Amino acid sequence: MIGNRPQFVKAAAVSTKLRERATEVLVHTGQHYDRELSEVFFEELGVPPPDHELMAGSGSHAEMTGAIMTALEPLVAEVRPDALLVYGDTNSTLAGALVAAKAEVPLAHVEAGMRSFNRAMPEEINRVVADALSVLSLCPTEVAVRNLESEGLGETAVLVGDVMADVALIFGPIAEQRSDALERLGLEPRGYFVATAHRAGNVDDPATLARLLDVLAGAAERAPVIFAVHPRTRARLEGSGLLEGLEGRGIRVVDPLGYLDITKLVRSSRAVLTDSGGLQKEAFLASVPCVTMREETEWVETVDTGWNSLVGLDAGAARAALDELPAPGERTSPAAELYGGGEAGARVAAAIADFLDSPPSRP
Ligand code: UD1
Repeated sequence: MIGNRPQFVKAAAVSTKLRERATEVLVHTGQHYDRELSEVFFEELGVPPPDHELMAGSGSHAEMTGAIMTALEPLVAEVRPDALLVYGDTNSTLAGALVAAKAEVPLAHVEAGMRSFNRAMPEEINRVVADALSVLSLCPTEVAVRNLESEGLGETAVLVGDVMADVALIFGPIAEQRSDALERLGLEPRGYFVATAHRAGNVDDPATLARLLDVLAGAAERAPVIFAVHPRTRARLEGSGLLEGLEGRGIRVVDPLGYLDITKLVRSSRAVLTDSGGLQKEAFLASVPCVTMREETEWVETVDTGWNSLVGLDAGAARAALDELPAPGERTSPAAELYGGGEAGARVAAAIADFLDSPPSRP
């Protein structure tokens, strides 16, 4: 089951492999529905078309989770799957987990065990609930396995690697060839930063959003910032009058980009500034330094190896980090070994196939 941007990327690594081992019925919850947040990922990454679209749309957490659950419950009753597979940490993940658990359908969770230990993040709540209900926890990292062990959930854990890394490793070189994003935006390799921001905690409150823009403006003193703006963030920028004046501060606002374009931009950038989990890793995998506009990260390996710096919304710390991080091209990150070497999708499919052959007793 998938529903929003990062999940389309994750499914690109899993669906094809899974279909070699089992029958997959793909459900799109409709949490993300704009072409640039949804369709373009299916087209570019070859994700199979969904068998069912729940059209849940946007709303408050309760509205969205409730709408997905209401549409999914009868579908699960009809299809009676042997297992329900959810990805990541979004409201789609939470809704899928709750429906599966109550229908007594075994739940498998890709990207299980990730923790920020910050329960102010809606994603953290979604992770904790999904992991508590999973019978098969497909973990991207050893740290994730240890997190589950410390919560008494170690028996469900299987280390598979990061499925997003599979996609980055395959599509990185393809993006290099196919995307003309640099030419379209008139950019020189290593002559700009790429920025994204969409976390509720960073963008919903205008004063906090203004601080985030100060971080970007600080970076823009060194090189232009290409700010690929998520619809949530655009709505907040427009609503608070903060959109005007960004160009004058060296921040160039562009619409959300497809996978190949953002990948190309990241790989050719001087550094990435983001609050996205996916981009932190994609930068790391491309040996491009990252400055993360959060106080903590689930992808601690990127920080431990010196490729990612957590600066929160401190503009001074961000500028200092940009000066200290390794220069792109200077050395190569230990990316592939840390995140599964491009084999995570195949391992997910194998773990699910094994599970279907001999399901363990329910926890
Ligand atoms: C969601 C996930 C987050 C994930 C992110 C990836 C939750 C709680 N959060 O955040 O974990 O990293 O997706 O992008 O599930 N909107 C559109 N068009 C769309 C989709 C959304 O305009 O296609 C607008 C909605 O009106 C809404 C806002 O964007 O106001 C936020 O969408 P939402 O799905 O709530 O959360 P994201 O910020 O995308």
